[in-house]
This record gives sequence, structure tokens and C-alpha cells, in this order.
Amino acid sequence: MQEELAKNREKERLLYQQARLASMGEMIGNIAHQWRQPLSELGIHLYKLKKFYKIRQKESFDETYEDAKRVIKKMSQTIDDFRNFFNAQKPKETFLVSDVIDDTLTMLKGTLKNEQITVRVTAEEKVSIYGYKSELTQVLINLITNAKDAFVEKGCKDRYIDINAAKFDGQTISITVRDNAGGIDEEILEKIFEPYFTTKQPSLGTGLGLYMSKMIIENSMHGSIEVFNAGSGACFDIKVPIELKEEKRE
Ligand SMILES: Nc1ncnc2c1ncn2[C@@H]1O[C@H](COP(=O)(O)OP(=O)(O)OP(=O)(O)O)[C@@H](O)[C@H]1O
Ligand SMILES: [Mg+2]
Repeated sequence: MQEELAKNREKERLLYQQARLASMGEMIGNIAHQWRQPLSELGIHLYKLKKFYKIRQKESFDETYEDAKRVIKKMSQTIDDFRNFFNAQKPKETFLVSDVIDDTLTMLKGTLKNEQITVRVTAEEKVSIYGYKSELTQVLINLITNAKDAFVEKGCKDRYIDINAAKFDGQTISITVRDNAGGIDEEILEKIFEPYFTTKQPSLGTGLGLYMSKMIIENSMHGSIEVFNAGSGACFDIKVPIELKEEKRE
């Protein structure tokens, strides 16, 4: 019994690592994207510095130097954003759902722009959750990445993802992520949360994204996640308790 539990835990840990590694590849692409522009800005600043130095324009030289420093600061901020997410050893905290949505969209900016996806967010102010911020971020990344994959696979023209966060009742927050990528076949709707269930080629998906998301929502955040087809796409509905503090639960 004890042994089996330990084995299961080890299996879950490995699954979790695998899923994190898979999303890391995606993230590295996003960092690269977010660096491309500041890098070319830096190139221009360097060119200007050389020019202003040659013609002894001290004031312009100093200004450009400050501009370049600002760009470098922005680039290092990008790294911090991503590192905070991946080295998430932070304790549980009370956080605003809208902050997590913003952070997630910032990290995925590259992908969303490349794939011409418009994300529309309606989040009630002051909707907060007690837990690990990075876990909810991970779930949102998985859902948004899945919608992106569906848009690409089906070659959709108009690509919208609607994210909504609102109080559902006095104790629960509802977060929905909905796309217009055509939805999920009814026959597989039941299976998509199973580990390794995927309709993608091995190089494009491991089938762990939704399994991980469900584990996070159910086991760590004590909530639920459901999926249904709505209108022209899939809708994932997450329900989590509001500010469920540890001491209250135990
Ligand atoms: N928004 C969506 N639209 C259409 N199909 C979806 C959507 N989200 C999930 N699916 C289906 O559910 C399957 C399982 O998703 P899941 O995120 O668990 O794995 P994956 O995306 O295939 O691989 P991974 O996330 O591990 O890279 C997908 O392969 C896809 O068929
Ligand atoms: Mg996925």
C-alpha cells in the first residue's frame, strides 16, 4: 500500500516534469520573440552612440546611452518574468485572478501575435484566490496553447480566445477559456483529460497538458475543470474556491 502510494507519487512527479519541459520549449520561443525587437533597438542605439561620439555630441550621446540602458532593463525583466514562473518555489499566497491572466498573456505574447490570435478578457476586479500563482498560470498556458494548436490545425481565419473570470457564487470563482476553433469531437470529449491522450503528432503534443491542468485544479486548488462545446468552439470552465486558506480547510 505504502509502496504503491510512493510509486504513484513518483509517477505523477515525472509526468509533471515532462509537462513542464514541454511547455518550456514553447516559452523559449516566446522569450526569443520578446527579445527580437529590443535587440534591434539596441543595434540602432549602438550605431547612434558611435555617430554621436564621432561628432562629439555629448548630450545626444548621454541620451542614447540612457535609452540603451532602459532597453537592457526591459530585456532582463523578460527573463525575470519567465524565471519566476519556472522556478516557482514561492509559498502559497492570495492573488488576483486578473493578475495571473495578465502575466500569462504577457508570457504568450509572442505566440499570440505570430498566430494572429485575439484574446479578449473580462475579469471582475478583486476576484482573488489563495494558492500557487504559478500553477494557475500553467493551466492557463495549457488551455491557450491548445486553442492555438486547434486554430493552426484547422486553419481558422478569425481567431478569438475569450477569457472570463467572475464570482460564481459566494464561495466560488469561475474562470472560463473559450475559443472559436471549431470545438472538440463529442467522441473524444470524455477522454481529453486522460494522461497521454492526444490527437496530435508526437512532436506536437504529449497529451499531458490537460491531465496536468486537471490535477492542478482538483488536487492543489480543490476545484473542478469541465469542458463542453459552445457555439463555434471549445469552452473550458474552471471553478475554484475563493481564498480558501489552509487553516480553514483543515
Ligand atoms: N481548445 C481545443 N480545441 C480543440 N481540441 C482540443 C482543445 N483543447 C484540447 N483539445 C484536444 O484534446 C487533446 C488533449 O489535449 P492536451 O492538452 O491534454 O494534450 P495535447 O495538447 O495533445 O499535448 P500537450 O498539451 O501535452 O502538448 C488534444 O490533443 C486535442 O485533440
Ligand atoms: Mg495541450
